[in-house]
Amino acid sequence: MEANIEMFEAQVHILKHAYNYVNSMVLATAIQLNIPDIIHTHGKPITIPDLVSALKIPPQKSNAVYRIMRLLTHNGFFDSTKLNEEEEEDGYVLTASSRLLLKSQVPNLSPFALFTVDPVMLAPWKVLGDWFSRNEESSAFETAHGAPMWEFCDTNSRFNNVFNEAMASDSQMMRLVAKDCGQVFEGLSTLVDVGGGTGTITKLILEAFPSLKCTVLDLPHVAAKQQDCQNLRFLGGDMFHSIPSADAIMLKHIMHNWSDEDCLKILKKCREAISEDNKNDGVKKGKVIIIDMVLGAEKDNEAEDITELKLMFDVLMMVLHSGKERTEKEWERLFIQSGFTHHKITPIFGLRSLIEVFP
Ligand SMILES: C[S@@+](CC[C@H](N)C(=O)[O-])C[C@H]1O[C@@H](n2cnc3c(N)ncnc32)[C@H](O)[C@@H]1O
Repeated sequence: MEANIEMFEAQVHILKHAYNYVNSMVLATAIQLNIPDIIHTHGKPITIPDLVSALKIPPQKSNAVYRIMRLLTHNGFFDSTKLNEEEEEDGYVLTASSRLLLKSQVPNLSPFALFTVDPVMLAPWKVLGDWFSRNEESSAFETAHGAPMWEFCDTNSRFNNVFNEAMASDSQMMRLVAKDCGQVFEGLSTLVDVGGGTGTITKLILEAFPSLKCTVLDLPHVAAKQQDCQNLRFLGGDMFHSIPSADAIMLKHIMHNWSDEDCLKILKKCREAISEDNKNDGVKKGKVIIIDMVLGAEKDNEAEDITELKLMFDVLMMVLHSGKERTEKEWERLFIQSGFTHHKITPIFGLRSLIEVFP
């Protein structure tokens, strides 16, 4: 009997993982239909008939809407409350997660959630099995699309926009960096955000430190679309060739895109770019600021969800770029091999950590 129970539990386990994509797709559908914003605008718990009428879809679809809402409510994206005891009518309200998906608010993670299920992002998974027996491409993304992701972005402006909007929406979450980690930026006069995309995080840092002179370095096709503003200039270039000199060089979600060999090249370029102390010839006074994940914090009672998500990101980075997520030991090895002397890790963003690396 016990063996049977174990087998049925195993079946549930397998099916739950095999059908995980249902959760991703239902979430994306709710965003496409604008359901979080409709509930927000409604201003009180919304019934299914009211939701169907706001969605402007045929009433025959009511039951389909109800079933999507039931799953999303189970998954914590909405809450339901009884509106009327006799009629047993449910009204749906937002939760902390769906409030983060409101297109009318900042931060809004909808562009990120839609980007994850974009056909360009899904295609590499279909060829992942084949990629294991091939030597030609460094990532399954390249097997699927014939070019590494950054080259693909250069020639596909639709996906380039989807990607940049997703990164910018995620960066809005980093308001906390400037607020809670203010001391990290204190005393700096200049900052270069390497691979800084649309400059979202640099603009947030500038709100808190308006006299900081900032440069966002990114590939020419990304930088060309951005507008300089006070104390912020966009520079098209290649971090493997040259990084402008500054007191601090920031790399947010850059290193996990690259192999150890490439990260060493980037870190050596960063070390060259860090300003020297005017009063102390040849002595570097600046630092590198890395915002990325650190694997292995589960030792310190990290939540199960966060550990799983970090491991998922690690595989994602392998599939998209031949990159990886790193343990503290792996980070340390890279810092020492590229000539840095010490580092400090501050794990503050749930998933991400802020790592200061000193020459
Ligand atoms: C994962 S995104 C991170 C964007 C931004 N830092 C953020 O967190 O929102 C990586 C960025 O690196 C840029 N990038 C890729 N290769 C680069 C290179 N060789 N030189 C400069 N930037 C590069 C990409 O264009 C992209 O904007």
